[in-house]
Amino acid sequence: INVLMPNQDLVGQHILITAGPTREEIDPVRYITNYSSGKMGYALAEMAKKRGALVTLITGPCQIPIPKVDEVVSVLSTEEMLHAVMSRYEQQDVVIKAAAVSDYRPTDRAVQKIKKQKEGSMELSLTKNPDILWELGKTKNDQILVGFAAETENLIENATSKMNRKNLDLMVANDLMQPGAGFHCDTNQVMLLYPNGQSKSLKLEEKKKIADGILDEIAYLLKEKKA
Ligand code: CTP
Ligand code: CA
Repeated sequence: INVLMPNQDLVGQHILITAGPTREEIDPVRYITNYSSGKMGYALAEMAKKRGALVTLITGPCQIPIPKVDEVVSVLSTEEMLHAVMSRYEQQDVVIKAAAVSDYRPTDRAVQKIKKQKEGSMELSLTKNPDILWELGKTKNDQILVGFAAETENLIENATSKMNRKNLDLMVANDLMQPGAGFHCDTNQVMLLYPNGQSKSLKLEEKKKIADGILDEIAYLLKEKKA
């Protein structure tokens, strides 16, 4: 065995990964977003490619280098991400939703820059965005669906209920309160949850190593399905 050659256990598998935040415009100069860096999703895309997968990366606006994969689609809003994902869903064997999707968007995007009023507070009306992962779960054929849950409290309880509600095969639960985990860190510490109630903790490591750990589980699920 050539030790420099990574494990080729994902050869020929179509894997779609979403990464980064989404951005919802308020007016031509302002927007709503979150602290997602895209690092975890990009690490997954890079490692999946190394292991032989055919990788589609659908990415919100990120400030880090985009990994070389088979297809890269840049999007801004949740609506754009929804369409980019849905139009490619049927061909996929695996979808990993690492993106931090904005739950709401401004109800109306102002065409002109909104001017400050002389007095008083201002209110911004928000409309709920579609839940991309829920849509994927609802229309799942044979795909393996992997979600992320970044939580600040009740990690297992919240992540488990999301896994069930969205019909996932694997949930990556991220405790944002732990040092060295979550947004902007180069490291992460996650717990993997399965619909059958099993779970597994991965130790604190570089996001690329964590990505490999998650892909190990996915490779196993793919093998199990074929058997
Ligand atoms: N997700 C999605 N579309 C949305 C919101 C979330 O596809 N509109 C996906 C995320 O990519 C992630 C998973 O759902 O894989 C969980 O996201 P999270 O924000 O933790 O859960 P929500 O269901 O949005 O619940 P809440 O924010 O209220 O905790
Ligand atoms: Ca959310």
